[in-house]
Amino acid sequence: KSRVFDHAVEVLKENDRGSYTVPTKGLYPFQWNWDSCFTALGQNYYDEDRAWTEIETLFEHQWPDGMVPHIVFHVHDDGYFPGPDVWATGRPTATSGITQPPIAGFALRQLFERAKDRTAAERRARELLRKIDKWSAWFYANRDPHGEGLVAILHPWEAGRDNSIDWDEAFERVPTEGIAPYTRRDTQHADPAHRPTKAQYDRYLWLVEHFRKLGWDNSKLHDASPFQIVDPGFNAILIRGCADLAMVAEALGESEIATANRARAEKGLAALDRLWSESHGQYLCLDRTTGNLVDSASIGGLLPVFATIPAERARAIARTIERMGERAKYLVPSHDPADARFDSKRYWRGPVWLVCNYLIVDGLAAAGKTAVADRIIASSLELIQQSGFAEYYDPMTGEPLGGGRFTWTAAMVLEFLD
Ligand code: DGY
Repeated sequence: KSRVFDHAVEVLKENDRGSYTVPTKGLYPFQWNWDSCFTALGQNYYDEDRAWTEIETLFEHQWPDGMVPHIVFHVHDDGYFPGPDVWATGRPTATSGITQPPIAGFALRQLFERAKDRTAAERRARELLRKIDKWSAWFYANRDPHGEGLVAILHPWEAGRDNSIDWDEAFERVPTEGIAPYTRRDTQHADPAHRPTKAQYDRYLWLVEHFRKLGWDNSKLHDASPFQIVDPGFNAILIRGCADLAMVAEALGESEIATANRARAEKGLAALDRLWSESHGQYLCLDRTTGNLVDSASIGGLLPVFATIPAERARAIARTIERMGERAKYLVPSHDPADARFDSKRYWRGPVWLVCNYLIVDGLAAAGKTAVADRIIASSLELIQQSGFAEYYDPMTGEPLGGGRFTWTAAMVLEFLD
């Protein structure tokens, strides 16, 4: 145990740039939003103060409207595309113009409850609480314009699951005409067979240019986007974040924030049930532009176990994961291996990601499904032993894929070892 622990800490420290941490050097040389929130959970094992700073740095770059961007470009680095000039968001420190899964509410509660320095934790939690609450309010105001209780993502990068099969159908409606010529950098750092395709990149870029032309005005982007997907995983993370925020607010005597976030979580949970698919034994994405559920059994539909979903839903998700375990040696594949579109090596079309394993384990354990949860933890630690701290892994062979010496993978290992 201690050798793996020490190795994970070494990876976290190696990617630490003082007040923020890069996901891995080369491929991702800036601060990413949800990466940082997972990273803080790992840093908390050896430096409580540094863990708080990781999230505080991210929130220093919150937009005036409440959005927290998915990338903060703290330094100049030509090794990444698309850089600040493509985003052109006009922020004092350059940032991207879209957001990412809001892990911050959950991470805040974890840091707050685990803190040994209670005085510092109360002061720092109170500051962050207001900012995270503002981000939650931003989501429901800008991404749920009809008050349905569920928010849409407007770009696959917002889900973090960039090239999921979930987006294939909707992507057919995203044009590519007129995009500026570009050179990808990601394929210089990682095997192109493990990364999204050029056809997908063209559409990622079209959406960025479209939003840029709208001046990154969040009051316009939702309705103007041809890509509006209600991702169950993303919503579950937001719902859990609101519930956790409410708990911290309660403990700090911030009753207004507690009430508002409890209400958001309750409304979200009720609405989430509309995305349940009995035949798949999991939730599905909803394409808001067509009003249809997307027939794609991805990990986005298993992540809702991280929110307080009904017990029978959690049991069904546990069975679905067990069924996947009959085909995949390592859990949890990011797409159902029984689907013909499954690709064991290509980013979010099949590979295992330890951060998703972590969220699913947390939910399954809370629902009392400890045998499946334990199997997922065992899979995660086996992958580390066999293949090191990779970005993601082939669920069939355990082969390490994407970037190496990856920060959030290391952070999750510290959590799994605990
Ligand atoms: C990338 O560049 O691969 C990222 O996922 C975008 O955030």
